[in-house]
Amino acid sequence: MTRRVALVTGSARGIGRAILERLAVDHDCVVHGRRDAAAAEEVARVVAGKGADTLVVTADLGDAEQVARLADSVLQRFGRLDTLVANAASTAFKPLVDVGVRHSRMTFATVVDSLVELVHRTAPAMGAGGRVLTIGGLDARFAQAGHGLLGGAKAALEALTRSWAVELGPRGVTANTIVPGPVLTDSLETYLNGQDDVRRLLVDHTPVGRLCTPDDVADVAEFLVSPAAAMISGQVVTVDGGVSAQGGPWGAMRELW
Ligand SMILES: NC(=O)c1ccc[n+]([C@@H]2O[C@H](COP(=O)([O-])OP(=O)(O)OC[C@H]3O[C@@H](n4cnc5c(N)ncnc54)[C@H](OP(=O)(O)O)[C@@H]3O)[C@@H](O)[C@H]2O)c1
Repeated sequence: MTRRVALVTGSARGIGRAILERLAVDHDCVVHGRRDAAAAEEVARVVAGKGADTLVVTADLGDAEQVARLADSVLQRFGRLDTLVANAASTAFKPLVDVGVRHSRMTFATVVDSLVELVHRTAPAMGAGGRVLTIGGLDARFAQAGHGLLGGAKAALEALTRSWAVELGPRGVTANTIVPGPVLTDSLETYLNGQDDVRRLLVDHTPVGRLCTPDDVADVAEFLVSPAAAMISGQVVTVDGGVSAQGGPWGAMRELW
Protein backbone atom coordinates (compact mmCIF):
# COMPACT_ATOMS: atom_id res chain seq x y z
CA MET A 1 0.00 0.00 0.00
CA THR A 2 1.37 3.44 -0.91
CA ARG A 3 0.82 5.82 1.94
CA ARG A 4 -0.64 9.21 1.18
CA VAL A 5 0.55 12.35 2.99
CA ALA A 6 -1.79 14.28 5.30
CA LEU A 7 -1.50 17.69 6.92
CA VAL A 8 -4.14 18.44 9.56
CA THR A 9 -3.81 21.94 10.96
CA GLY A 10 -4.25 22.20 14.72
CA SER A 11 -3.69 18.46 15.16
CA ALA A 12 -2.05 18.55 18.60
CA ARG A 13 -5.46 18.34 20.30
CA GLY A 14 -9.23 18.24 19.89
CA ILE A 15 -10.91 17.42 16.59
CA GLY A 16 -7.69 17.83 14.59
CA ARG A 17 -5.90 15.23 16.69
CA ALA A 18 -8.77 12.74 16.31
CA ILE A 19 -8.75 13.20 12.53
CA LEU A 20 -4.98 12.85 12.17
CA GLU A 21 -4.88 9.74 14.35
CA ARG A 22 -7.55 8.21 12.10
CA LEU A 23 -5.71 9.13 8.88
CA ALA A 24 -2.46 7.64 10.17
CA VAL A 25 -3.68 4.18 9.11
CA ASP A 26 -2.91 4.97 5.46
CA HIS A 27 -1.23 8.40 5.52
CA ASP A 28 2.15 9.73 6.51
CA CYS A 29 1.37 12.56 8.89
CA VAL A 30 2.23 16.19 9.46
CA VAL A 31 1.35 17.10 13.04
CA HIS A 32 0.80 20.83 13.22
CA GLY A 33 0.64 22.71 16.49
CA ARG A 34 1.03 26.24 17.70
CA ARG A 35 1.71 26.46 21.44
CA ASP A 36 2.07 23.02 22.98
CA ALA A 37 5.15 21.31 21.54
CA ALA A 38 4.86 18.41 24.02
CA ALA A 39 1.27 17.68 22.91
CA ALA A 40 2.35 17.70 19.25
CA GLU A 41 5.21 15.30 20.01
CA GLU A 42 2.79 12.99 21.82
CA VAL A 43 0.50 12.90 18.77
CA ALA A 44 3.57 12.24 16.61
CA ARG A 45 4.40 9.20 18.76
CA VAL A 46 0.83 7.88 18.45
CA VAL A 47 0.66 8.23 14.66
CA ALA A 48 4.19 6.83 14.23
CA GLY A 49 2.94 3.81 16.19
CA LYS A 50 0.39 3.27 13.40
CA GLY A 51 3.21 3.14 10.84
CA ALA A 52 3.17 6.77 9.67
CA ASP A 53 6.30 8.62 8.71
CA THR A 54 5.87 11.79 10.77
CA LEU A 55 6.81 15.45 10.66
CA VAL A 56 6.00 17.90 13.46
CA VAL A 57 5.72 21.59 12.54
CA THR A 58 4.99 24.45 14.90
CA ALA A 59 3.48 27.50 13.21
CA ASP A 60 1.10 30.31 14.14
CA LEU A 61 -1.40 30.43 11.28
CA GLY A 62 -2.02 34.08 12.05
CA ASP A 63 1.47 34.84 10.72
CA ALA A 64 1.86 34.69 6.92
CA GLU A 65 5.58 33.84 7.06
CA GLN A 66 4.98 30.91 9.40
CA VAL A 67 2.19 29.63 7.12
CA ALA A 68 4.58 29.71 4.15
CA ARG A 69 7.20 27.87 6.21
CA LEU A 70 4.63 25.20 7.15
CA ALA A 71 3.77 24.52 3.50
CA ASP A 72 7.41 24.55 2.44
CA SER A 73 8.50 22.13 5.15
CA VAL A 74 5.78 19.64 4.16
CA LEU A 75 6.82 19.74 0.52
CA GLN A 76 10.54 19.58 1.35
CA ARG A 77 10.04 16.52 3.52
CA PHE A 78 7.49 14.56 1.45
CA GLY A 79 7.54 16.20 -2.01
CA ARG A 80 3.73 16.00 -2.15
CA LEU A 81 0.53 16.52 -0.19
CA ASP A 82 -2.55 14.35 -0.69
CA THR A 83 -4.86 15.35 2.13
CA LEU A 84 -5.10 18.84 3.57
CA VAL A 85 -7.49 19.23 6.51
CA ALA A 86 -8.03 22.85 7.56
CA ASN A 87 -9.06 22.40 11.17
CA ALA A 88 -7.28 25.06 13.26
CA ALA A 89 -9.30 28.09 14.33
CA SER A 90 -9.21 30.65 17.08
CA THR A 91 -11.25 33.72 17.81
CA ALA A 92 -12.46 35.99 20.58
CA PHE A 93 -15.81 34.64 21.84
CA LYS A 94 -17.48 38.05 22.27
CA PRO A 95 -20.55 39.91 21.01
CA LEU A 96 -19.77 41.05 17.46
CA VAL A 97 -20.38 44.68 18.36
CA ASP A 98 -17.64 44.44 21.00
CA VAL A 99 -14.87 43.26 18.70
CA GLY A 100 -12.61 45.48 16.65
CA VAL A 101 -10.42 45.07 13.63
CA ARG A 102 -7.59 43.53 15.68
CA HIS A 103 -9.79 40.53 16.55
CA SER A 104 -11.23 40.39 13.09
CA ARG A 105 -7.79 40.29 11.46
CA MET A 106 -6.63 37.57 13.84
CA THR A 107 -9.67 35.38 13.21
CA PHE A 108 -9.70 35.79 9.44
CA ALA A 109 -5.90 35.44 9.16
CA THR A 110 -6.02 32.15 11.10
CA VAL A 111 -9.11 30.63 9.48
CA VAL A 112 -9.21 32.10 5.96
CA ASP A 113 -5.90 33.67 4.86
CA SER A 114 -3.76 30.80 6.10
CA LEU A 115 -5.77 28.30 4.11
CA VAL A 116 -5.75 30.36 0.92
CA GLU A 117 -1.94 30.38 1.17
CA LEU A 118 -1.66 26.70 2.11
CA VAL A 119 -3.79 25.63 -0.86
CA HIS A 120 -1.94 28.04 -3.17
CA ARG A 121 1.40 26.54 -2.18
CA THR A 122 0.45 22.86 -1.95
CA ALA A 123 -2.17 22.35 -4.69
CA PRO A 124 0.54 22.01 -7.40
CA ALA A 125 1.89 19.05 -5.39
CA MET A 126 -1.57 17.37 -5.15
CA GLY A 127 -2.43 14.72 -7.69
CA ALA A 128 -5.50 12.61 -8.48
CA GLY A 129 -7.12 11.48 -5.25
CA GLY A 130 -6.12 14.69 -3.50
CA ARG A 131 -8.42 16.00 -0.82
CA VAL A 132 -9.08 19.41 0.71
CA LEU A 133 -11.32 19.16 3.76
CA THR A 134 -12.32 22.23 5.74
CA ILE A 135 -13.93 22.26 9.18
CA GLY A 136 -16.75 24.78 9.23
CA GLY A 137 -19.30 25.57 11.91
CA LEU A 138 -23.04 26.00 12.48
CA ASP A 139 -22.15 29.61 13.37
CA ALA A 140 -21.93 30.24 9.60
CA ARG A 141 -25.67 29.39 9.40
CA PHE A 142 -27.09 30.56 12.73
CA ALA A 143 -26.28 33.67 14.78
CA GLN A 144 -24.79 32.10 17.93
CA ALA A 145 -23.90 34.20 20.97
CA GLY A 146 -20.21 35.12 20.93
CA HIS A 147 -19.64 33.48 17.54
CA GLY A 148 -20.28 36.43 15.20
CA LEU A 149 -16.70 36.78 14.03
CA LEU A 150 -15.98 33.08 13.75
CA GLY A 151 -19.27 32.55 11.90
CA GLY A 152 -18.18 35.13 9.32
CA ALA A 153 -14.86 33.36 8.81
CA LYS A 154 -16.51 29.93 8.60
CA ALA A 155 -19.01 31.20 6.01
CA ALA A 156 -16.04 32.37 3.93
CA LEU A 157 -14.41 28.96 4.39
CA GLU A 158 -17.48 27.18 2.98
CA ALA A 159 -17.56 29.49 -0.04
CA LEU A 160 -13.83 29.06 -0.70
CA THR A 161 -14.18 25.29 -0.45
CA ARG A 162 -16.81 25.26 -3.20
CA SER A 163 -14.47 27.19 -5.49
CA TRP A 164 -11.57 24.82 -4.77
CA ALA A 165 -13.89 21.92 -5.60
CA VAL A 166 -14.57 23.43 -9.02
CA GLU A 167 -11.01 24.52 -9.76
CA LEU A 168 -9.24 21.38 -8.54
CA GLY A 169 -11.89 18.86 -9.64
CA PRO A 170 -10.46 18.34 -13.13
CA ARG A 171 -7.27 17.07 -11.49
CA GLY A 172 -9.15 14.51 -9.41
CA VAL A 173 -8.97 16.56 -6.22
CA THR A 174 -12.13 16.99 -4.13
CA ALA A 175 -12.92 19.74 -1.62
CA ASN A 176 -15.61 19.52 1.05
CA THR A 177 -16.58 21.05 4.37
CA ILE A 178 -17.62 19.22 7.52
CA VAL A 179 -19.84 21.30 9.78
CA PRO A 180 -19.82 19.83 13.28
CA GLY A 181 -22.41 20.64 15.91
CA PRO A 182 -21.11 21.27 19.44
CA VAL A 183 -18.15 18.91 20.02
CA LEU A 184 -16.70 17.99 23.43
CA THR A 185 -13.28 19.70 23.22
CA ASP A 186 -11.25 22.32 25.13
CA SER A 187 -12.68 24.97 22.83
CA LEU A 188 -16.28 24.11 23.79
CA GLU A 189 -15.31 24.15 27.48
CA THR A 190 -13.80 27.63 27.04
CA TYR A 191 -16.97 28.80 25.34
CA LEU A 192 -19.28 27.27 27.99
CA ASN A 193 -17.12 28.66 30.79
CA GLY A 194 -18.71 26.32 33.34
CA GLN A 195 -22.30 27.25 32.43
CA ASP A 196 -24.00 23.89 32.86
CA ASP A 197 -27.40 25.34 31.95
CA VAL A 198 -26.07 26.19 28.47
CA ARG A 199 -24.56 22.71 28.12
CA ARG A 200 -27.89 21.13 29.14
CA LEU A 201 -29.74 23.27 26.61
CA LEU A 202 -27.44 22.03 23.86
CA VAL A 203 -27.93 18.38 24.83
CA ASP A 204 -31.70 18.79 25.24
CA HIS A 205 -31.96 20.25 21.72
CA THR A 206 -29.89 17.49 20.12
CA PRO A 207 -32.25 14.77 18.88
CA VAL A 208 -29.74 11.92 19.41
CA GLY A 209 -29.43 13.06 23.06
CA ARG A 210 -25.71 13.75 23.38
CA LEU A 211 -23.05 16.15 22.15
CA CYS A 212 -20.61 15.16 19.39
CA THR A 213 -17.18 13.76 20.18
CA PRO A 214 -14.03 14.40 18.12
CA ASP A 215 -14.29 10.79 16.93
CA ASP A 216 -17.77 11.45 15.46
CA VAL A 217 -16.17 14.11 13.26
CA ALA A 218 -13.14 11.93 12.49
CA ASP A 219 -15.45 9.12 11.27
CA VAL A 220 -16.85 11.41 8.57
CA ALA A 221 -13.47 12.97 7.75
CA GLU A 222 -11.97 9.52 7.24
CA PHE A 223 -14.73 8.70 4.75
CA LEU A 224 -14.53 12.00 2.85
CA VAL A 225 -10.79 11.67 2.23
CA SER A 226 -11.07 8.01 1.23
CA PRO A 227 -11.27 6.79 -2.39
CA ALA A 228 -14.92 5.82 -1.68
CA ALA A 229 -15.80 9.55 -1.58
CA ALA A 230 -14.25 10.38 -4.97
CA MET A 231 -17.55 11.74 -6.31
CA ILE A 232 -18.44 13.90 -3.31
CA SER A 233 -17.09 17.39 -3.88
CA GLY A 234 -18.15 20.95 -3.12
CA GLN A 235 -20.45 19.71 -0.36
CA VAL A 236 -21.14 20.66 3.22
CA VAL A 237 -21.65 17.61 5.45
CA THR A 238 -23.22 18.38 8.82
CA VAL A 239 -22.32 16.15 11.79
CA ASP A 240 -24.48 17.43 14.63
CA GLY A 241 -26.78 14.71 15.95
CA GLY A 242 -29.69 16.61 14.41
CA VAL A 243 -29.37 19.82 16.46
CA SER A 244 -29.72 22.02 13.37
CA ALA A 245 -32.65 20.01 11.99
CA GLN A 246 -35.01 21.64 14.48
CA GLY A 247 -33.37 25.04 14.39
CA GLY A 248 -31.10 24.68 17.41
CA PRO A 249 -31.32 26.38 20.81
CA TRP A 250 -29.44 29.52 19.72
CA GLY A 251 -32.07 32.07 20.77
CA ALA A 252 -32.52 30.59 24.26
CA MET A 253 -28.76 30.16 24.57
CA ARG A 254 -28.18 33.84 23.90
CA GLU A 255 -30.33 34.64 26.95
CA LEU A 256 -28.13 32.46 29.19
CA TRP A 257 -24.59 32.93 27.75
N1 LIG B 1 -15.61 22.14 19.47
C1 LIG B 1 -16.73 22.51 18.87
O1 LIG B 1 -17.80 22.55 19.48
C2 LIG B 1 -16.72 22.87 17.41
C3 LIG B 1 -17.96 23.00 16.73
C4 LIG B 1 -17.95 23.35 15.39
C5 LIG B 1 -16.76 23.56 14.73
N2 LIG B 1 -15.58 23.42 15.40
C6 LIG B 1 -14.34 23.69 14.66
O2 LIG B 1 -13.51 22.56 14.71
C7 LIG B 1 -12.14 22.97 14.66
C8 LIG B 1 -11.38 22.37 15.83
O3 LIG B 1 -12.04 22.75 17.02
P1 LIG B 1 -11.63 22.16 18.45
O4 LIG B 1 -12.85 22.28 19.29
O5 LIG B 1 -10.94 20.86 18.32
O6 LIG B 1 -10.63 23.31 18.92
P2 LIG B 1 -9.47 23.33 19.98
O7 LIG B 1 -9.58 22.19 20.92
O8 LIG B 1 -9.47 24.72 20.51
O9 LIG B 1 -8.21 23.13 19.04
C9 LIG B 1 -7.93 24.11 18.08
C10 LIG B 1 -6.62 23.77 17.44
O10 LIG B 1 -6.27 24.82 16.52
C11 LIG B 1 -5.00 25.33 16.84
N3 LIG B 1 -4.90 26.74 16.56
C12 LIG B 1 -5.75 27.71 16.97
N4 LIG B 1 -5.31 28.91 16.56
C13 LIG B 1 -4.17 28.68 15.87
C14 LIG B 1 -3.23 29.52 15.22
N5 LIG B 1 -3.37 30.85 15.16
N6 LIG B 1 -2.16 28.94 14.62
C15 LIG B 1 -2.00 27.61 14.67
N7 LIG B 1 -2.83 26.77 15.27
C16 LIG B 1 -3.90 27.31 15.89
C17 LIG B 1 -4.81 25.06 18.31
O11 LIG B 1 -3.44 25.05 18.59
P3 LIG B 1 -2.94 25.46 20.07
O12 LIG B 1 -3.39 24.34 20.95
O13 LIG B 1 -1.46 25.52 19.98
O14 LIG B 1 -3.59 26.77 20.39
C18 LIG B 1 -5.50 23.70 18.46
O15 LIG B 1 -4.63 22.66 18.11
C19 LIG B 1 -12.17 24.49 14.66
O16 LIG B 1 -12.10 24.95 13.33
C20 LIG B 1 -13.52 24.82 15.25
O17 LIG B 1 -13.99 26.08 14.84
C21 LIG B 1 -15.52 23.09 16.72
